[in-house]
Amino acid sequence: MPEHTDPTEAPESAAPGYNGRSAVDSSRTSYGDVGFSRYLRRAFLASAGYDDESLERPIVGIAVTSSDYNTCHRDMPALLAAVRRGVEQAGGLPMDFPTISLGEILTSPTTMLFRNLMAMDTEEMIRALPMDAAVLLGGCDKTVPAQLMAAASSDIPVMLEVVGPMMTGSWRGERLGACTDCRRFWGKHRGGELDGAEITSVRNELVTTAGTCTVMGTASTMASITETLGMMLPGGATPPAVSGARLRHATETGRRAVELARTGGPLPREVMTRAAFDNAIRVLAAIGGSTNVLIHLIAVARRAGIELTLSDFDTIGADTPLLVDCKPSGTGYMEDFHRSGGVPALLKELAPLLDLDHVGVGGRPLRELVAETSDREEWQATIRPLDEPLGAPGALAVLKGSLAPNGAVIKVSAASPHLMKHTGPAIVVDNPADATRILDDPELDVTPDHVLVLRYSGPIAAGMPEAGALPIPAKLAERGIRDMVRVSDARMSGTSYGTVVLHCDPEAAAGGPLSIVRDGDMISLDVEARSLELLVEPDEIARRLESFIPPVRATRGWQKLYQDTVLPASEGADLSFL
Ligand code: FES
Repeated sequence: MPEHTDPTEAPESAAPGYNGRSAVDSSRTSYGDVGFSRYLRRAFLASAGYDDESLERPIVGIAVTSSDYNTCHRDMPALLAAVRRGVEQAGGLPMDFPTISLGEILTSPTTMLFRNLMAMDTEEMIRALPMDAAVLLGGCDKTVPAQLMAAASSDIPVMLEVVGPMMTGSWRGERLGACTDCRRFWGKHRGGELDGAEITSVRNELVTTAGTCTVMGTASTMASITETLGMMLPGGATPPAVSGARLRHATETGRRAVELARTGGPLPREVMTRAAFDNAIRVLAAIGGSTNVLIHLIAVARRAGIELTLSDFDTIGADTPLLVDCKPSGTGYMEDFHRSGGVPALLKELAPLLDLDHVGVGGRPLRELVAETSDREEWQATIRPLDEPLGAPGALAVLKGSLAPNGAVIKVSAASPHLMKHTGPAIVVDNPADATRILDDPELDVTPDHVLVLRYSGPIAAGMPEAGALPIPAKLAERGIRDMVRVSDARMSGTSYGTVVLHCDPEAAAGGPLSIVRDGDMISLDVEARSLELLVEPDEIARRLESFIPPVRATRGWQKLYQDTVLPASEGADLSFL
């Protein structure tokens, strides 16, 4: 029998974790006196079949992000069922609730504009609804960062579970998958190598199953980072969406969530420590992960009370080589990474560089997990040994200079070696929507030495779309040119590649130096020296900046709140009051 047979009389308790009293009874929802409020809640729950015995159990809230607009999450109902099964097996009560779902492909103008909104939604629902622990189901690019941000602001145990990567397809015998190959084949089409019928037939093989993009794009990177941070049970980043391994991991997560609900910890801030972030930065370098993750990790750390800066990525990543052979930095796909052992096998290789005392939601130190992981064998070729890396340290580099006084980012591992030191004249595009018109103009005076500049695409101006990898001008693409130096205050997809300098801070809309670049100005990139310079006299730069006119801003709604309070990219682009 329940300890409190009359739930309306249940005592208040400040003890952490489930202590025999239903979270339903400690809810702060009030309809007058405390007893009546509890009575009313149980009356409505009874209408949904929840009897007093059900409500004795620890409640695990499960955030669901299914949406017809988010095809990556289309198998989430099965994932949810698996988590619920685990919760019930462990004696808990699963209660799922919806939050915003951000599907990368159909959300305008960019999912990044809504990452913070999703983080707020998730955080507030965790706080508002009665639950003793939460499992957050995500996957597509911005969903996991938003959920980690929400978790960092939460005061109950939280675990993440992702939908997992999709499987690869095949076209004319060539293996391919979203979305590095989407861009590669589109580049061939623009260059005249593939006709309309061929590119249409490629299209049907790029995204073959449910799940997140199958290369080391932002979704796969964030999944790997979440596992490294310890916010997901070991082995959760890489099982394919359609696999039984994915469902089994979800069930294990459900069971573990009940244990966390009973003990009341560890809390997300106790998991996401400085050591966890340092380990995550090393993994980011070793997987050649997405540049977007710099922004996301800084935002999550800020909420967890950890001061993380762009320089940390440069210094910590500087002695961490590229080990994982996945596109866009390598040749393989997430299913290869998974078959090679996934994140646990990678952490074993990286062990000499990691803080092995870190403890995640699984409750055991990384040292034990590494010790239990089998030694790498030759066939696990997607993960290279530390002494025979795939690429040199420094997969991601942070640049500074007169064009980005507060920093900019380049993914060296996916760039062209011959462009790592380059000086050329600028061609300026003010708006991503104008890019194709300007760059495909047959009259455009452009050579492979030009530097393509995209501006007014930072957080304030446009929510920071993934527009930084500007297309190679058509007349050069037709000549077989596949890469040029590109510079912007935008982001680029984690699946993109090329010599693309991103996140220039301050952004043009905030009066940053990008705003005063003119066609023909010389720009110098030197990755080894970590510099990005506008080769215009300082007096002339100052004179041009004096006449800067800020662009018009939104006057209502989310976009106004966002534009008025968003932090710069180098500070995580969260809202300043969060
Ligand atoms: Fe969802 Fe790539 S579009 S992960």
